[in-house]
Amino acid sequence: MTQNQLKQAVAQAALEEIRDDLHKDSIVGVGTGSTANFFIEELARLKMDIDGAVASSEATAERLRAHGIPVYDLNAAGILDVYVDGADEINARLQMIKGGGAALTREKIVAACSNKFICIADESKQVEVLGDFPLPVEVLPMARSHVGRELVKLGADPQWRENVKTDNGNWIIDCYNFLLDDPLKLETRINDIAGVVCNGIFAQRPADVLLLGCPEGVKRLI
Ligand code: 5RP
Repeated sequence: MTQNQLKQAVAQAALEEIRDDLHKDSIVGVGTGSTANFFIEELARLKMDIDGAVASSEATAERLRAHGIPVYDLNAAGILDVYVDGADEINARLQMIKGGGAALTREKIVAACSNKFICIADESKQVEVLGDFPLPVEVLPMARSHVGRELVKLGADPQWRENVKTDNGNWIIDCYNFLLDDPLKLETRINDIAGVVCNGIFAQRPADVLLLGCPEGVKRLI
């Protein structure tokens, strides 16, 4: 199976997972990225059966609207029953690195407002220890150099993702060679740096369910 076929399989499995709980007033939280895009395709089949969605990025909002799915502001939607999103890396505790698509801040906010976070990923995303994937950190533009220096002190090799502006008007620093042996602690530590908006460690709010696409089928991990 190709990676895209695995992504499609987990997107279908996610819809199966939530389908029985959906009703005409349901508002579903939808993530960002190629795996989430497959989920949007699945959701589009149900568009008459749900009220709408909350998007974790402008790109996702645009894609949802293109399928005729109403997009709600999170403040109006309130607490969501479920959020479905991909990941760049995920460990056995369902802690993740996210933000490869620069949507980490909105993803973390929507995840924080959701009762259930279903992570959908192909098997390449499963790791023992987080950190091979460069950790994204969203920063206010004026703080880029300061945050970079502080990240070096924490042991990272930070690189500015040039020519990328987030949906919030900020910049991304990718941290290479970062040892994430204590994701919970590091998530808080990085957030304490002045000028950091958000970092891509999802340990304080990990996923609740992982649907992992493997050639032998979709594995469900909790
Ligand atoms: C975007 C994300 C995505 O969930 C992550 O990058 C995975 O993307 P893909 O499904 O394309 O592999 O965090 O900010």
